[in-house]
Amino acid sequence: MTTMWRPARIFAFAACFGALASCATAPTPPPAIHAQALPLIPEPALVEPKPGIFRLRDGAALIVDSQNAEAAGIAHRFADLIAETRGIHLDVHPLGSHAERDAIIFSLDARAANVPSGEGYDLAVDPQRILLFAREPRGLFYGSVTLWQLLTADTTKVSRLDVPQVHIADQPRFAWRGAMLDSARHFQSPAFVKRFIDQLALLKLNTLHWHLTDDQGWRIEIKRYPKLTEIGAWRRPAGAAGTDANGQPVRYGGFYTQDDIRDIVRYAAARYVTIVPEIDMPGHMQAAIAAYPELGSIGDAPVVSPDWGVHAYLVNTDDETIAFLENVLDEVTDLFPGPYVHVGGDEALKDQWKASPRVQARMRALGIENENAMQGWFLAAIEKHLAARGKRVVGWDEILESGVPPNAIVMSWRGAKGGIDAAHAGHDVVMAPDPDLYLDHLQSDAPDEPPGRPTLRTLADIYAFEPVPPGMPADVAAHMLGAQAELWTEHMRTEERVEHAAFPRLDALAEALWSPKAARDWTGFTQRLAPEIERQRAMGVHVADGGMSRAHAPQDPLTRTSSALKPCSGKLRLRLEDDAPAEGPRAVFDTDLFDPCWIFEQAPLDGIAGVAVDVGQIPYNFQLAHDVTGIVPRPAPTSADGDLLVRLDGCSGTPLATIPLDKAVTNPAVTTLTASWPPVAGAHDLCFVFAYRGHDPLWSIDKVRLLRAH
Ligand code: ACM
Repeated sequence: MTTMWRPARIFAFAACFGALASCATAPTPPPAIHAQALPLIPEPALVEPKPGIFRLRDGAALIVDSQNAEAAGIAHRFADLIAETRGIHLDVHPLGSHAERDAIIFSLDARAANVPSGEGYDLAVDPQRILLFAREPRGLFYGSVTLWQLLTADTTKVSRLDVPQVHIADQPRFAWRGAMLDSARHFQSPAFVKRFIDQLALLKLNTLHWHLTDDQGWRIEIKRYPKLTEIGAWRRPAGAAGTDANGQPVRYGGFYTQDDIRDIVRYAAARYVTIVPEIDMPGHMQAAIAAYPELGSIGDAPVVSPDWGVHAYLVNTDDETIAFLENVLDEVTDLFPGPYVHVGGDEALKDQWKASPRVQARMRALGIENENAMQGWFLAAIEKHLAARGKRVVGWDEILESGVPPNAIVMSWRGAKGGIDAAHAGHDVVMAPDPDLYLDHLQSDAPDEPPGRPTLRTLADIYAFEPVPPGMPADVAAHMLGAQAELWTEHMRTEERVEHAAFPRLDALAEALWSPKAARDWTGFTQRLAPEIERQRAMGVHVADGGMSRAHAPQDPLTRTSSALKPCSGKLRLRLEDDAPAEGPRAVFDTDLFDPCWIFEQAPLDGIAGVAVDVGQIPYNFQLAHDVTGIVPRPAPTSADGDLLVRLDGCSGTPLATIPLDKAVTNPAVTTLTASWPPVAGAHDLCFVFAYRGHDPLWSIDKVRLLRAH
């Protein structure tokens, strides 16, 4: 229907895009109320501050076309959010039934002039009223999010609120603005997934890529194949965490019932978040093969994996297996109404296919020369099935190596190159590169950052992410749909940790993907982030501080935690959590999977008589595939249970102490080991390295303390 309102003034919207600075600097200098940046993330495309204010009072009217159920839904959710965050109650009234003075008006009109289309909107806060226009419901929703942010510069509960007068015209730079959530490595509750979707939507992120299956767990109920969740959704954790206080095996896992999924999909749709389900194949399938061993390639029956890393298990390529997967995907497509299904395709080591007589026979029958081409044939069959059901396939960039179905979307994770090549070859691309957008990398060097990969991806790094490489021709750049950040959860055992990794780095990504490139302004972002973090905290989100307010405690010169020790070779560093105790806090070790060896640089040894070292052991539950040859051999032990060696002036220097591990070997948590040594003058590099047979468990240092002579 035609609305009774028009945007506050006509302006040349399109001309402002890409030239935000000139558009935004045209108005006269803002009055005091605008002295601070408006509390908006992502920064809108065009913001025109004005001198007045609108006074919003408790009980004010929110007028909306109630004939339009979507618009009415958006208005009601907005009213709920304002009541929850500011304590101001709005009365939702149907269009035409209430005076517009002092009211908020949500107007949805497909033909509205001078209003951006699609996800765009036009918002005018004037002294008499607030007018939000959009042509489509999703635009109305994003306008309501902007208005909510304007009203939540802080989150104290009030009965009236002064809103700065402003005109905002906005639309996104990229269509695909997303995050990937790995619910396979660790399971998150349906309630958490909904909370996460809330936060995505409030950042105008519109895509949740949901990684639902992997070697460590199958998380989606498939009615036709119940064992996928009866067996595949559960694993016994590695190491001490695999046994409970009564000595019984622990069963870790969970899955989403089809009712859970329908509920989550509905919830997401109401917030304009499209869920892209991922069923990863032909690798990352160990949990499915554990449930239905006939899917496997080498005829054995694995367990659901308690390990991390690249696993060997691949499904076979028989017609029955492809039919099984098609039946699974039929249930998946019935549950997820969005246009895309992600079929993985990543990290499918071909060893099992090479060793599998049935796969080799199939390849010969099909005249397929090598296993990579076989993966191409396999995924093409799956793609054809999905296309017949109206779905577009998404795959990790390995699909480029085996012939990409022309309509498939390539998700570039091994850096940007795959995405750039794919775009030049005419494929649509989503950038999701590691390490750039992999949020399992730690966000600050604070010693209390939770486990993850220690190569930092700071908030500023994410903010600086640019999906389109410089110089890419416009017709190629048109294939860059957008980008997403990945929340792989091997190291995120709790939902709190997922949120800590996600926020505020997803705020930074949201701005990089929504706002015009010319509007990118790190200083402005950090100012706008303060009220944003307050909002997120008020909603119970375990948001990190973005590494901005953390003052590092002064370092005791005689003590080093593992994060403050230098790795000896730094081949593959991880910050790993101990697997014990079962309850309560666990130690966190900065260690190296290939070479667990640490240097205390320039240790001040004058007056030092020895050392106390807190050590722990974690299961070596990492599948390194062919990289296993890179493991640095441990020195030979002299004690039955192994030793911790301390050497002077580096790892080939004089032995200072050989500390047997017998006291620590029976303690699954942290044990303090001590040793003394004769006086040494001056400052020296001390090397700490474990000597034991094999490489499991992974012995690790928690903390080193030099002990003074008495
Ligand atoms: C991936 O990180 N294996 C996509």
